[in-house]
Amino acid sequence: PRVAVVFGGRNSEHSVSILGAGSVLDVIDRSKYEVIPVGIAQDGRWVLVSDRQRYAIEGRELPSVDAEGMALALPSGSGTLVAYEPSRVPEELGQVDVVFPVMHGPFAEDGTLQGLLEMAGVRYVGSGVLASAVGMDKGYMKLVLAAAGLPVGPYVVIRDRDWRTDRQRVLKEVEELGWPVFVKPARAGSSQGISRAADLGELERAVEFAREHDPKVLVEAAIAGREIECAVLESPGDEAPRASLAGEVVVAGGHDFYDFEAKYISDATSVAVPADIPDDVAENLRAMAVRAFEALDCEGLARVDFFHTPDGRLIVNEINTMPGFTATSVAPRLWAASGLPYPELVDRLIQLALH
Ligand code: DAL
Ligand code: MG
Repeated sequence: PRVAVVFGGRNSEHSVSILGAGSVLDVIDRSKYEVIPVGIAQDGRWVLVSDRQRYAIEGRELPSVDAEGMALALPSGSGTLVAYEPSRVPEELGQVDVVFPVMHGPFAEDGTLQGLLEMAGVRYVGSGVLASAVGMDKGYMKLVLAAAGLPVGPYVVIRDRDWRTDRQRVLKEVEELGWPVFVKPARAGSSQGISRAADLGELERAVEFAREHDPKVLVEAAIAGREIECAVLESPGDEAPRASLAGEVVVAGGHDFYDFEAKYISDATSVAVPADIPDDVAENLRAMAVRAFEALDCEGLARVDFFHTPDGRLIVNEINTMPGFTATSVAPRLWAASGLPYPELVDRLIQLALH
């Protein structure tokens, strides 16, 4: 089969996506699949990347899609479709059997790309339109998780108009959460645009900061607890989805929380698998992870993030429908520790999409 590995994208997780794609391209079985690497540049252009494309961090410099490659006939994000000459598109591109979007965030993990692929009749790895859209919007995600009986923390959604016209009421609602709070863009990822606020002054700054990513903002009560994560994988056939072992994310000192720098640049994060929690808590957590996966109608792979509070409660923080996917990202590490090494995980996801 011919697999298009699509990466980059028109959002702030552009580079994170390329790191994941680099890992996938390293391990994908080329005796079994014909691989076509397709980049989506920051400006939205789809390009058949050249061999010069860089997939790794160099020093502290993140990779980005080399837009000099061959432009393809796909949406550019500029409000028009790219005009292209069919004769210039290399013949070897041809038809693809499956797209593997190793991409995160808006226009990638939020159902828009998935909708485009549905309309084109192309199979793809991962969740469909609805699960992707719900998983991307932290406000709707919490509504759906809570409706499925899963425990979520207290939060306030700040919509653009409320922030501009009804700020006093919004601030009052947030104050009722208690301090500190975490302020997040409703639809972003990799901790971008997230900050902590300990009082009203910091809150206003934090909301403005989050609004640089998304006019819709989520404010969450800070939850004291350990961060435990679990990956869920669709099963072939009619079997129920399967949960990996649970792992604890441990962030080294100097980081206020599990931020972008800690996640990707400074190597400050490690994952302890299995997490050092009581067996019954781990079992409960894994069952809840599967329930979250099913509540959103996820497909392929997802990672469900929990807090385990000092008094022993589990709270679902979020679900990611296309979790960070380098060989050393949390979900692949959880699966490797659960008996499914990264190359097999990649193969499994492609096979699930093909069938
Ligand atoms: N949004 C990042 C990639 C994650 O959830 O891992
Ligand atoms: Mg997320």
